[in-house]
Amino acid sequence: MTHFLDIHKTSPDDLRHMIDQARSMKDSRQGQPKGTTDAETPLAGHMVALIFEKPSTRTRVSFDMGVRQMGGQTMVLSGADMQLGHGESIADTARVLSRYVDLIMIRTFEETTLLELADHATVPVINGLTNRTHPCQIMADVMTYEEHRGPIQGKKVVWMGDGNNVCASFLHAAGQFGFDMVVSGPETLDPEAVFIEEARAKGVSVELIRDPEAAVNGADLVVADTWVSMHDSQTTKERRHNQLRPYQVNERLMSHAKDDALFMHCLPAHREEEATSAVMDGPHSVIFDEAENRLHAQKAVMRWCLGV
Ligand code: CP
Ligand code: NVA
Repeated sequence: MTHFLDIHKTSPDDLRHMIDQARSMKDSRQGQPKGTTDAETPLAGHMVALIFEKPSTRTRVSFDMGVRQMGGQTMVLSGADMQLGHGESIADTARVLSRYVDLIMIRTFEETTLLELADHATVPVINGLTNRTHPCQIMADVMTYEEHRGPIQGKKVVWMGDGNNVCASFLHAAGQFGFDMVVSGPETLDPEAVFIEEARAKGVSVELIRDPEAAVNGADLVVADTWVSMHDSQTTKERRHNQLRPYQVNERLMSHAKDDALFMHCLPAHREEEATSAVMDGPHSVIFDEAENRLHAQKAVMRWCLGV
């Protein structure tokens, strides 16, 4: 079964194929991401279930539009409204859904839910974000970087702030696409060691630098994300804000990056917290290209999963 569960579980060749196909599908729309039908409709006759156990704007709309453009149909399901949210096992849910639909995308809390679903499904499963990773986002981010600046291989990507699920998928991508990473944040919010070790084992450099200005020095790409993720308890909010405030991406911090550095944020953002509006709306920012490219990148991911 060709699941898309994480970037490090997919071969570099397959990842490269998906990025290239995403760019070519985007080009073929000639600057018009909207519109419900592509010239080619490889998902005709396919039904895709999109399951959300957490809120979403980009993932929900971009997957739904992507399926429609490729000629398929979607069911958008809320975990709370399914029997899954009322005690039915993940394994039985996987077996049942596999009798009805051709592909399942799930956004969930625990990574174990995703893995168990994938274990028992007889159709491909796509990770639409868990507490640990967010691979579809980073496929869009790699595509966005390369559109603006060419190959990401060998570049220096600096992650500022919480070493969270999005950071983890960046570390996976560093190993697979061959770029170096610096993670800058308080020690208590470092990424899990396994993500760092796996990237280093693939031959790329991963440094943890506490001083934000030193970290950003010479960066090709600076990335920020929310200080409190959906899986984090709200009771930690104040402590996280206090710890992460020095890592805000503002114009002063960006001035330490390369002149042509890009700024990314997967959104949703809390403006003036993890990043200022001056940066988010400034000349380095490609945040809305990232959002658009979720659509194109995920279309390629779905085609890869379905072999169409
Ligand atoms: N970046 C992202 O996944 O956004 P949503 O939470 O809106 O899906
Ligand atoms: N780290 C964020 C990403 C949201 C798209 C979260 O998990 O809430």
